[in-house]
Amino acid sequence: MANFNEEYILTMLRQIHYPGFEEDIVSFGVVNEVNIQGNRVTVNLKFNTKNPDTKAQVKNAVQNVLKTELPDMRIMVMEGIPAMAGPQLAPPKPNDPWAGRAAIPGIHSVLAIASGKGGVGKSTVSTNLAIALANEGLRVGLLDSDIYGPSVHIMMGVDEKPMVTPGQKLLPIEKFNIKMMSMGFILDKDTPVIWRGPMVIKAVDQFLHDVEWGELEVLLIDLPPGTGDAQLSLVQKTPVTGAAVVTTPQEVALVDARRGYQMFRKLNIHTFGIIENMSYYPNPQTGEPVYIFGKGGGPKAAEELGIPFLGEIPIEPEIAAAGDLGIPIVAKNPASKATEAFRQIARRLLERGLLERVAK
Ligand SMILES: Nc1ncnc2c1ncn2[C@@H]1O[C@H](COP(=O)(O)OP(=O)(O)O)[C@@H](O)[C@H]1O
Ligand SMILES: [Mg+2]
Repeated sequence: MANFNEEYILTMLRQIHYPGFEEDIVSFGVVNEVNIQGNRVTVNLKFNTKNPDTKAQVKNAVQNVLKTELPDMRIMVMEGIPAMAGPQLAPPKPNDPWAGRAAIPGIHSVLAIASGKGGVGKSTVSTNLAIALANEGLRVGLLDSDIYGPSVHIMMGVDEKPMVTPGQKLLPIEKFNIKMMSMGFILDKDTPVIWRGPMVIKAVDQFLHDVEWGELEVLLIDLPPGTGDAQLSLVQKTPVTGAAVVTTPQEVALVDARRGYQMFRKLNIHTFGIIENMSYYPNPQTGEPVYIFGKGGGPKAAEELGIPFLGEIPIEPEIAAAGDLGIPIVAKNPASKATEAFRQIARRLLERGLLERVAK
C-alpha cells in the first residue's frame, strides 16, 4: 500500500506551472481529482482550454513529475472524467435513435470487441487485452456476451457462479485484477440457439445495469461473432464508446472484418481499429516471423477503411495452452512476444482516446 496520500501528490503537482502563467496547475484549477488505489495513482485533469498543445504539455509534466517522484507507482493521467460518475450523455433529442443507450453509472468507457466470424480469437483477444489494460493501471471489467459460445470464464479459469448482493445485484467475479461477468454463468448449454437472440439482449442489459461493477475505467464486451440481428440489437442498446474488430489475415476473414466495421459505422459507433490475430508464426529457432497466411492483410484492410491498425498477434501454442489452462498468456508469461503485442495494442487504444471519447 502507498504510504502517502492525495495531499502529498497535490504538493508534488504544485511544482508544475500552467503553461504561460505564474500559477501552478493546482491553483489554476486544472487538477480535478487525485486518487490512490493500491499501486496506482490516477490524476484527473479538467481544462478550460481547448488547446491540445497546452493539454499535452500539462499531461506530460504530470506524468514526468509523478514518475520521477514515485517510480514504483503506476501513474494514470486522465482528462475530463467527472468525479467517478461515468460519462454524462446529453439528454436525448426527440426521435433520437440512440435514446435507448443509457450510460452505465460508474463505468467510464465501454469497448466492444467484435469479429465478423467465430474462431478468429475474439475471446483470446478480449481476455488478454483486458489484463493488458489493467496492467496499464486501469480498473477493468470484462463482459462475455457471446450467446453462441461463451468462453471467457473458461479462459480466465473461473468455475464459480456470481453471488447476489442483498440489494439483488450480481457481483462480478474478480480474477487477474479483472471484474468479470459472462453469459456462460446463466446460459445452459442446452438452451436452444433460437432463444438466445432475445435472451441475450435482455441479459446484457441486466449485466450492464444490475451488476455491481463499481468504478471502472473500461468495460470490455466480448460480442457474439458476426454482424447479424443479435449483434446489431445488442450494440444498439449499449452505450459503447468504441469498437475494435478482430480478424485473422486470411481474405475470407478480412471480408467479414470489413462487414463488422460497416455495422458500427451504420450505428454511428466509433471503431478504434483492426486487431490482427494469428498474423505469423515465430520460427522456433530464430524467432523470425513466418507469415504463413500472407503478410499485411490486416493493415491493408484498415487502410482501405480509413481506420487505424492496432497490431498483430503471433500464433503461439502457448496462447492456446494458456487459454485451456485458464490463465491468459498476458498473466502467465509477461515476457512472451504475444504479451508484448497485447501491451502495445492496449497502449494504442489509450493513445487513440479510449478514455477520452464519449459513448454513443
Ligand atoms: N494467437 C493465437 N495463437 C494460438 N492459438 C490461438 C491464438 N488465438 C486464438 N487461439 C486459439 O484459437 C481458438 C479460437 O480462439 P477464440 O478466442 O476462442 O476465438 P473466438 O472467440 O473468436 O471464437 C482457441 O482455442 C484459442 O486458444
Ligand atoms: Mg469467443
